[in-house]
Amino acid sequence: MTTADIQQSGLPALKACTVSRDVQEFDLLIEDMEAALGEAWGDLGFDEVRAFFDQPEADELEFIALAIDAEDEDKLALLSSIIETAKARDIKVILIADDVTPASLHQLLRDGADEFVPYPLPEGELHAAIERLHTAPEPVATPQIEQPAAAPAPAVASPGTKDGVLLAVHGLAGGTGATTMAVNLAWELATIDKKNPPKVCLIDLDLQFGSVATYLDLPRLEPIFELWSDTEAMDADMFMHAMVGYEDQLSVFTAPSELIPLDLITSDDVNRVLTIARTQFDYVIVDMPKTLVQWTEPVLRQAHVYFAPVELDMRSAQNTLRLKRALLAEDMPLEKLRYVLNRAPKFTDLNGKARVKRLAESLDIKIEVQLPDGGKPVTQGADHGLPLASSASKNPLRKEIAKLAAELHALGQSDAQAA
Ligand SMILES: Nc1ncnc2c1ncn2[C@@H]1O[C@H](COP(=O)(O)OP(=O)(O)OP(=O)(O)O)[C@@H](O)[C@H]1O
Ligand SMILES: [Mg+2]
Repeated sequence: MTTADIQQSGLPALKACTVSRDVQEFDLLIEDMEAALGEAWGDLGFDEVRAFFDQPEADELEFIALAIDAEDEDKLALLSSIIETAKARDIKVILIADDVTPASLHQLLRDGADEFVPYPLPEGELHAAIERLHTAPEPVATPQIEQPAAAPAPAVASPGTKDGVLLAVHGLAGGTGATTMAVNLAWELATIDKKNPPKVCLIDLDLQFGSVATYLDLPRLEPIFELWSDTEAMDADMFMHAMVGYEDQLSVFTAPSELIPLDLITSDDVNRVLTIARTQFDYVIVDMPKTLVQWTEPVLRQAHVYFAPVELDMRSAQNTLRLKRALLAEDMPLEKLRYVLNRAPKFTDLNGKARVKRLAESLDIKIEVQLPDGGKPVTQGADHGLPLASSASKNPLRKEIAKLAAELHALGQSDAQAA
């Protein structure tokens, strides 16, 4: 149904419009608009929309769904001006993007699009985006913290003056325990010194499938996505505001609640976030995605130590070789890598010990940290949203991570004294 049809038909006032080159290219959007709005929506072309905003039919318009694909990327200026005109009239903008480059998406979000939904639309996503438009407080959502463990992130003066130690954890194969290590290392550091606790933050850069929030039972706050979509505008206050506190002692920057493309963010974005984090905290722990991305490099460069958990299997061995080769080819600082063998064989397992030695020799790496298998309690603790120190304090894995935290902290202290 076109807007002209609606205008002549005496149908309900328009609450929304799709705006696209050709709405037929987005048939799933048509279905979802019908489901959400019945007949109270119309469709417009890019060139019609601004004139339409001036018509009385547009008075009740709540939002436009601006649907674009790769072919529309050469019209960025026009798209930006549509967003600006809509914003000036208090009409919200949901961006529906099919195969659009991250740079263009970034630009349009920066211009003020309120929501972004990838196309083909995931089930229920348009509906959820519309709901959020209705509930989102202006201009930036304030943290709504429901879970009992969640408390506002401890306030820190801004701008910060610290020069925090950056510790990254990058699992070299799925499920090698990177997140378990990052979460528990962060918690052990945060609680290492009762009298003079270091300020610790944990950043989930596994943007798509990050599970830090799950492992600590924390909400994923709305501002996270907004910060990533415009890091240039971010200052220390906004960064601190987007964080959620765990037990008042650890500040957590979770992954966004939406699934976003890993390349939506750039090296500059990551550098800005890490730099601000390091001015505010003594330790910044980063959980990395297992894929190598363009912004792996800035993390590696800023990191003091880059932990790479592996397991004693062929997958880990092959991925280690690939990673080493890739980093060497790009002239990246390989020496920052510290290989961590998770689920390492027990001390008494001589056969296992020999396999570890062979693995290290054949890959030409040193395995400097070995973490034992902690059995079911490890997963159970994470499922309850608790660090091991709270769920299974005597667990061998916890003991080993606590030992590592103590070594790192001692190193930091002696460096600070030497400086
Ligand atoms: N040493 C260990 N002992 C027992 N269980 C462990 C150990 N390390 C990790 N686990 C369990 O293995 C599973 C995967 O761990 P985790 O999520 O930390 O891995 P990951 O490398 O972050 O995985 P992903 O690739 O999904 O990001 C979890 O259920 C975790 O509780
Ligand atoms: Mg993980």
